[in-house]
Amino acid sequence: DLSGPQINRLVNHAHHLKHLSMPWLAPQHATKKKSNLRMPSQSLFNKSIALLFSKRSTRTRIAAETAAVLLGGRALFLGSSDIQFGVNESPRDSARVIGGMCQGIFARVGAHDEIEELARYSPVPVLNALSSFWHPTQVLADLLTLHEHAHLFSPGTPVPSPIKPLPPLRPLTIAYVGDSANVLHDMLVTYPRLGHKVRVATPPQPQYNPPKPVWDRVVELGCDKHVVWSNDPREAVKGADVVVTDTWISMGQEAEKAQRLKDFAGYQVTEALCREGGANPDWKFLHCLPRKQDEVDDEVFYSSRSLVFPEADNRKWTIMAAFDLLFGKWDITGEKSLK
Ligand code: CP
Ligand code: NVA
Repeated sequence: DLSGPQINRLVNHAHHLKHLSMPWLAPQHATKKKSNLRMPSQSLFNKSIALLFSKRSTRTRIAAETAAVLLGGRALFLGSSDIQFGVNESPRDSARVIGGMCQGIFARVGAHDEIEELARYSPVPVLNALSSFWHPTQVLADLLTLHEHAHLFSPGTPVPSPIKPLPPLRPLTIAYVGDSANVLHDMLVTYPRLGHKVRVATPPQPQYNPPKPVWDRVVELGCDKHVVWSNDPREAVKGADVVVTDTWISMGQEAEKAQRLKDFAGYQVTEALCREGGANPDWKFLHCLPRKQDEVDDEVFYSSRSLVFPEADNRKWTIMAAFDLLFGKWDITGEKSLK
């Protein structure tokens, strides 16, 4: 739902919060005077954020809980076996009750309709922590990671300074090989608006195409013109600066495992695939995690191409930026980078 400038602002704010919270990451830039050390804004002081998670999570949950602490607030983890939501109570009633006691809701749901209903009836802001259609906080972490590595894509670009706005990214070609699932869908509505091209390969069976409401949104935002879709992984990685994949079996699809493993044969990201497909020789690799060897082999996953662990770390700073701006300050307007 954010505009391109709002996304840029949020990612720059994440960069700022990361280095404010961990100045030792770049000691050459850390202030020598202790009195100059600054704290992140305590915008969640005395506030509680409901983490309404009906699916499991490592990164998103830990990022949210630790980010809330750094902002001076508290996150309440509410799993599906803890509360009535999704079992004995509708999203509408849950949203009104939880929103009456907490200042924000970060929700990981099954069907995307559930989060739409939460957002419609909640008196406080609702952020999507993953739904069947979308995973918006993932692409924010991916963007921060790409900006932090801008010098790898454009030799001569300075390594980002923690005290300056993030360096811009040159227009990139970003390939995605795998299932048309939530992580890809946010790439489709985000990267083209920021000047990047997206090339996708999914298996030919219709169930691996994006759901209609997702593609309608891609078209509504004018992003479809910058997306090339095929069923051939080699075609997708042509000219790619970045190659991305995700699990072939998303949470809730476990019963389809055997069929999916058959349908996705040939879609594993490997050095050979990217060489034969003509990826940029310096291509980098992203994956939201958790990862299986099916979709990417160890040679790529643990190589120097792979940015997956900085990407995982950046879930924290981007979620913290979203909580600060959307739950703490209620301010996502404006386009400038924050100081
Ligand atoms: N990438 C991601 O959302 O990971 P978790 O499912 O562990 O939160
Ligand atoms: N597509 C995956 C993403 C996990 C972070 C899933 O929905 O399970």
